[in-house]
Amino acid sequence: MRGPLGEGYVSEPLELIADEVRSCTRCRLYQTAKQGVPGEGNPRADVLLVGEGPGFHEDVQGRPFVGPAGKLLDELLARAGLSREDVFITNVVKHRPPDNRDPRPDEMEACGDYLDRQIAAIRPKLIVTLGRHSMATFFGPAARISQIHGTTKPWRDMLAYACFHPAAALHQPRFRELLEQDFDGLPRALAQARERANALASGAPDSSPTSETAEQASDEQLSLF
Ligand code: URA
Repeated sequence: MRGPLGEGYVSEPLELIADEVRSCTRCRLYQTAKQGVPGEGNPRADVLLVGEGPGFHEDVQGRPFVGPAGKLLDELLARAGLSREDVFITNVVKHRPPDNRDPRPDEMEACGDYLDRQIAAIRPKLIVTLGRHSMATFFGPAARISQIHGTTKPWRDMLAYACFHPAAALHQPRFRELLEQDFDGLPRALAQARERANALASGAPDSSPTSETAEQASDEQLSLF
């Protein structure tokens, strides 16, 4: 699993990054996919959603989350009082893995630069991870989604918020309730992320818990269930 994304990226137009994604040959995935799917949405969004990788429908249309998982994502966003116009949506890998297999570490590594540059361009306050591959990118390879979903962790000057992947509920209905809980918690995570961003911008010392204590806090929370 790849480590934390590199820092120090300079903001550049999202369309430039999208053009590079569309002609990308950095890993094997372009050979079997129909096209690259860079992502789309509000270029000044406070919320960036990061999924796993394009599926069948996304590969055909060149847009993220446009199949059944995307329909559910729209419903979940609406629960949180958000629409696609409010957020930016992208994926850890930008070409569809064949037969929707898991993205491989070297593919995520090769694609990581695009995600980094998108983050630098958008400067979101909250990064919502959808599924375990996206979660591992921001919460680290040791994190377990069943333990940390619905919790936040400081990531650079942003917050990351872990959610199950919408497709989980399509395959196993028992995940629907957990996903709804994750998205019901999104407005609170966003409020915290905005508060943190404002405090950091005004030069206040960062009072957010470290990633370790955030994970401990979520363990404590889980032990209450
Ligand atoms: N699943 C993902 O992770 N991303 C998409 O864009 C579509 C389905």
